[in-house]
Amino acid sequence: MAQVLPIRLYGDPVLRKKARPVTDFTRVPELAEAMLETMFEAGGVGLAGPQVGEAKRIFVAALYQDLPEEEEDRVPLKKRVRETFVLVNPRITFAEGEAVGTEGCLSLPGLYSDDVPRKFRVRIEYQDEHGEPRVIEAEDYLARIFQHEIDHLEGVLFFDRLPPPLKRRFLEENRAELARMQREAKAMLKELAPRR
Ligand code: NI
Repeated sequence: MAQVLPIRLYGDPVLRKKARPVTDFTRVPELAEAMLETMFEAGGVGLAGPQVGEAKRIFVAALYQDLPEEEEDRVPLKKRVRETFVLVNPRITFAEGEAVGTEGCLSLPGLYSDDVPRKFRVRIEYQDEHGEPRVIEAEDYLARIFQHEIDHLEGVLFFDRLPPPLKRRFLEENRAELARMQREAKAMLKELAPRR
């Protein structure tokens, strides 16, 4: 089984860095597998390199089978996977339509915001985990996931996309929780330091 990696929290500087393009694909399949495992474990729909401390242009995502609410807790997320995605060096080459929706982030656990504006439909050119060039088109929910993850590669978090008054409100309403995360992120960095 692939390794589960520690997820970096809000306050970790790696989340605000611009990620570097991937040029050497030798270890990418391994990293992608670990990122997928980490995402399943955390119950997420997407996870970008910087969120596991890898400032590289890679993200993973998954779509899950919907279940009636009473069954959701009994079936592990991994058993509900419909489709997984691994996108390396992704570039949005076409986008159209506007949509607003709710977003959260594994690096800001428990925090959500409605009204995050995104493009409704996107086309993305990328490379797969072996470096092969690919194109994918997505709309609505999947397009939102892809845009959220690509933002991570630019050091952008979902609340940065909110119109300024809503962003201010998000930061104010979650001030205590965000400060707690920043402290936890610092503690985590200290703990990870000897391994580097
Ligand atoms: Ni995120």
